[in-house]
Amino acid sequence: MFCVRLRHYLAKLALARGNGRVHSRFTMKKTPKRWGDSTTAIHLGEKRHGIGAAVGTTISRTSNFTFASTAEMKRWAEGKSSAYIYTRYGNPTLTTAEEKLAALEGAEAAVMAASGMAAISSTLLAVLSSGDELIATRQVYGGSYRLMRDTFPRLGIVVRLVESDLAGIEELVTAKTKALYIETPTNPTLRIVDVEKAAAFAKKHDLVSIIDGTFASPVLQKPIEMGFDVVVHSATKFLAGHSDVIAGAAAGSRKWIHHVRENIIHLGGSMDPEAAFLLIRGMKTLEVRVKKQCENAMIVAKYLEGHRKVKRVHYPGLASHPDHKLAKKQMRGFGAMLAFDLKAGLPAARRFCDRVKLFLLAASLGGVESLVILPIYTSHYGLSPEELRNAGVEPGTVRVSVGLEDADDLIEDLRQALG
Ligand SMILES: Cc1ncc(COP(=O)(O)O)c(C=O)c1O
Repeated sequence: MFCVRLRHYLAKLALARGNGRVHSRFTMKKTPKRWGDSTTAIHLGEKRHGIGAAVGTTISRTSNFTFASTAEMKRWAEGKSSAYIYTRYGNPTLTTAEEKLAALEGAEAAVMAASGMAAISSTLLAVLSSGDELIATRQVYGGSYRLMRDTFPRLGIVVRLVESDLAGIEELVTAKTKALYIETPTNPTLRIVDVEKAAAFAKKHDLVSIIDGTFASPVLQKPIEMGFDVVVHSATKFLAGHSDVIAGAAAGSRKWIHHVRENIIHLGGSMDPEAAFLLIRGMKTLEVRVKKQCENAMIVAKYLEGHRKVKRVHYPGLASHPDHKLAKKQMRGFGAMLAFDLKAGLPAARRFCDRVKLFLLAASLGGVESLVILPIYTSHYGLSPEELRNAGVEPGTVRVSVGLEDADDLIEDLRQALG
């Protein structure tokens, strides 16, 4: 009886202490994964101490924090104190989100950012300087592509593009190559990059490997465990999951997250505590949401594949998808994103998008609501016809983010809109 009570007490103590994790100014202690994803997302990093502690996550809604004394101020300036001083540098609510994500990714550390693009740019700029070269997969989110195409050349950074099957990647390496950047599954055509192969390539050439894991979320894919150095997310999407916040994050080794955090602080892309709260609330239901969204997406993909007006469905869960086997090997589910091309091209795609009633005609993805967009006018605006072709985007490509509605209602809406 005593043993049972002792075990119970120790378990509660571990929970109250956030499972033993400690915050420091720039880094966190390694977060060994002890719980499943849902338990981790719900309990890890929560500061619940004693009787009367809030069960819900509290928001440290403050821009600054008091020092106990000038002696402590001095210790902070000397890097000897991990105290919070100013929210751009760190905030307890952000720490909670960071601890959860690090554990979900199986990473040593994580850092939050104001948006996915703040996380991506701060990560890439943590690795790359003027004169350096980056190898990146061609099929990436349009915003990441525009960053590499329009901003990096002005900073003297050269970007060399490779297809998502990594064919010919060895020929792109020079003495100046510093990093590899991939995105998988890709936006919007859901191509799958072989994560283990990419990680092995980066290790062989001593490159920092960075992956955008937004479409999969850590529930479906854990790239750090597959050998990547840093995983970045548009946390706006599946991680937050309710279409009510813009957020970004990076997770990886203590060393690289330290540098990414420095950039976020210097460039000012820090997350707001209110946004961190919304992200944390979303993360608590991440696994159940993603699992159900995957089920819905498979139903939608199969329906579209059988429709006479549809030319092709891009969904890695379908046997017809060119990367189906690879997706099966490296993912724990096929995701909630898909795209399809209509036989009659852009006019038909526009008609379809203008007719949907339950699916919303809106950018973004990964929320509880099902959405459709035309990538040529949204995620991939401003790309030339050749760049669109290279990205696998046809004018009539429709991208679909499948939400949590009842599958029958989604199919009924597709039927009437394709009608
Ligand atoms: C795959 C992917 N990465 C990054 C981003 C950028 O994220 P954010 O809009 O949060 O800056 C997006 C946005 O759509 C995305 O789809």
